[in-house]
Amino acid sequence: MKNILVTGGAGYIGSHTIIELIKKGYNPIVFDNFSNSTDKSLKLINEYFKKELTVINGDIINMEDLDEVFKQYGFDGIVHFAGCLEVGESMINPIKYYKNIVSGSINLVELANKYNVKNIVFSSTAGVYGIPNVSVISEDTIINPINTYGKAKYMVERILEDASRAYGIRSIRLRYFNVAGASEIIKIGEAHRSESHLIPNILLNILGIKNGFKLFGNDYNTKDGTCVRDYIYVCDLALAHVKAIEVLESNEKNDFSIPINLGTKSGYSNLEIIKTCEDVTGKTLNYETVDRRPGDPDKLVADNTKAMEVLNWRPTASLKQIIQSAWNWHSSIEYIEALGVK
Ligand SMILES: NC(=O)c1ccc[n+]([C@@H]2O[C@H](COP(=O)([O-])OP(=O)(O)OC[C@H]3O[C@@H](n4cnc5c(N)ncnc54)[C@H](O)[C@@H]3O)[C@@H](O)[C@H]2O)c1
Repeated sequence: MKNILVTGGAGYIGSHTIIELIKKGYNPIVFDNFSNSTDKSLKLINEYFKKELTVINGDIINMEDLDEVFKQYGFDGIVHFAGCLEVGESMINPIKYYKNIVSGSINLVELANKYNVKNIVFSSTAGVYGIPNVSVISEDTIINPINTYGKAKYMVERILEDASRAYGIRSIRLRYFNVAGASEIIKIGEAHRSESHLIPNILLNILGIKNGFKLFGNDYNTKDGTCVRDYIYVCDLALAHVKAIEVLESNEKNDFSIPINLGTKSGYSNLEIIKTCEDVTGKTLNYETVDRRPGDPDKLVADNTKAMEVLNWRPTASLKQIIQSAWNWHSSIEYIEALGVK
């Protein structure tokens, strides 16, 4: 069985990817400092698959922690999720973000080289494109991140490109658009203590767990004036990581590092998202429309042709299915437990 190091594997996307890795016969080994997660999802995954995942509590910034883990387990590949992800915080505390995202990834690449691990799948973001001058974004669209989070992610992408050329470490850099929804087979999902994503925020307001939903701007150059984004189902996204590992494993080339957009090629406005949440839940959202936030582009939609061609991957879930799964999750007791249980 192949050992895959999953940094940040206790988190939202990481835990969904672990399910797909197990289903495909891999042995995921989780490395997480639990700074933005608990071990609740991992316990539920263990229960479902009747297994005991190897979980290491450690920080990717700490080279000694990491070296020990590389020494102990022979890894066949790495899926690298660990990192902070609040855009606003990244502007207030950039060094935290450069350390966590850039220094942490440098440590991983250095050890991958030392221990001869040749395949890395990296969590990048559509944020590397900044405010694009096209409405459907391909991997060739100009890179111009406008916040520290996006800049740090793009720095790691460049480091991975160099690592493929210099050390023969192959990588696929997955640029996610807006990730949403939750697994329907195991009760896990998004449980961020500081939640900034649109769909959970709407649902948590509808549930009364949060109060005072604000719609940022209604004067964008879009069909109804609100921002348009591309929402990808977390389970579809998770599967793309396993396919990326498989592509890397079957690749003979040493100098191989490519970016791939992960989105659906469909955009929905914030008002459409609110309406679909209201339809799914049968409840009305009370909200206030306020000014735009600085740096929010009108429209971010992925051209996902490359993902379909290279990974042989397709998004499967409709917006309604994504929101239904998120609603099932956020209204469950497991969500509340995942927020607070260590
Ligand atoms: N959620 C999204 O919409 C989205 C979009 C684009 C990119 N991403 C990227 O995907 C990755 C996963 O996102 P997520 O939504 O699952 O976030 P998450 O916070 O749920 O998961 C990240 C995990 O990494 C861990 N972690 C953070 N810093 C660490 C460190 N220094 N050492 C070890 N573990 C550490 C956290 O405890 C957490 O369990 C992140 O790199 C994020 O930047 C997410």
